Amino acid sequence: MADAKPRVFVTREIPAAGLDRMIEACDADVWREPLPPPRETLLEKVRGCEGVLSLLTEKVDAEFFDAAGPQLKVVSNFAVGFNNIDIAEATRRGIRVGNTPDVLTDATADMAFALLIAAARRVVEGQDYIRDGRWKTWEPLGHVGQDLWERTIGIVGMGRIGMAMARRCRGGWNMRVLYHDRYRSEKAEQELDARHVEMDELLAESDFVSVHADLNDTTRGMFNAAAFKKMKKTAVFVNTARGPLHVQSDLHDALAGGEIFAAGLDVTDPEPPELSDPLPTLPNCVIAPHIASATVSSRNGMAEIAADNLLLGLEGKPLRCWVNRD
Ligand code: GLV
Repeated sequence: MADAKPRVFVTREIPAAGLDRMIEACDADVWREPLPPPRETLLEKVRGCEGVLSLLTEKVDAEFFDAAGPQLKVVSNFAVGFNNIDIAEATRRGIRVGNTPDVLTDATADMAFALLIAAARRVVEGQDYIRDGRWKTWEPLGHVGQDLWERTIGIVGMGRIGMAMARRCRGGWNMRVLYHDRYRSEKAEQELDARHVEMDELLAESDFVSVHADLNDTTRGMFNAAAFKKMKKTAVFVNTARGPLHVQSDLHDALAGGEIFAAGLDVTDPEPPELSDPLPTLPNCVIAPHIASATVSSRNGMAEIAADNLLLGLEGKPLRCWVNRD
C-alpha cells in the first residue's frame, strides 16, 4: 500500500502555480473562503497536520503549534514578511518556517513609488474631485503638489525592497538618497551615492520618507508624533511595509494638522482600518488595500516558492527560502 500523503492545511486559495502541486502531493485541506478562517477554526484545522501554508493574516504562535501537535514540520508563509509567526517558538520546536522573498521586490517598489507620486501630486484627491462633480475649470491655484525631480528620498530599511525603491528614485528622478538601517549598504552607497544617516537627519532632510523595515519590537511605532514633527511640512510619508510601523492616530494628526504634506500607504493598522478611523477620509492620505505584491508574476512566484518550501519541509529537506535555518 502506498504511503499516506502528508496532511496539510492551506489557509487560503493561492495561485494554481503553487496550489496545484500542494494538492497533488498532499492530503490538502484548502480554506477557499475569501476571509481568513476564524481562530478557533484555524486551530481545529491544523490539528494533526505536518505542514501549513499560512498568510500574514494568521497568527502562528505557541497556541497554534500546540493545537497542531508535535508532528508539525513546516509552516510556509505566503509572504516575504513573517511578523505573524513566532519564529523563536517555531525554532525551539524544530519547525521550519519559509517565506517568499525576491519575486515581489520590484512589484513592491513600484507600488511604493506609485503611492509616493500619487500622494505628492494629489492624484486620488483630483479623481475624487471629478467624481464628486466639483471640477468646473482649470485652476491656477488649485491642486498644487510637490515636485519630485532632484528632491531627497529617505529610505528607512535598505534591504531588497528599500534598494529597489532607491534605484527608482535615483535613476528615474535623480533624487539624492539618504538611508537609515542597522547595517551599512555598500551597494547603495556605491551604486546610488546613498548616504547612511541617523534617523533624525533623515527625517529632517528628506522630501519623501519611504519605510521598508521589518516589523519587530524595535521598529514598531517608529513613525509616531515625534517623528512626524521632525519631518518637513512638505514631506510625503510612504509605508508599504507593515502598518504598525506607524502610529495610525499620530499619522492622522500629522496629516490633518499640516505637520506633513501627505501620505501614501499600502498597509494600515489594523487591516482594514476600523470604520470609525478618520485616516482614510483625509484627502491627503492615499491608501491601497495591501496590494504591493499583487502582480501576476509576483503572486505566481510567491505561490511557487511557498509550495516548494512546504513540500521540501515535509520531506525534511532545506527550504528554498528558509527563515529559521540558523
Ligand atoms: C506582504 O506584505 C508580504 O510580506 O509579502
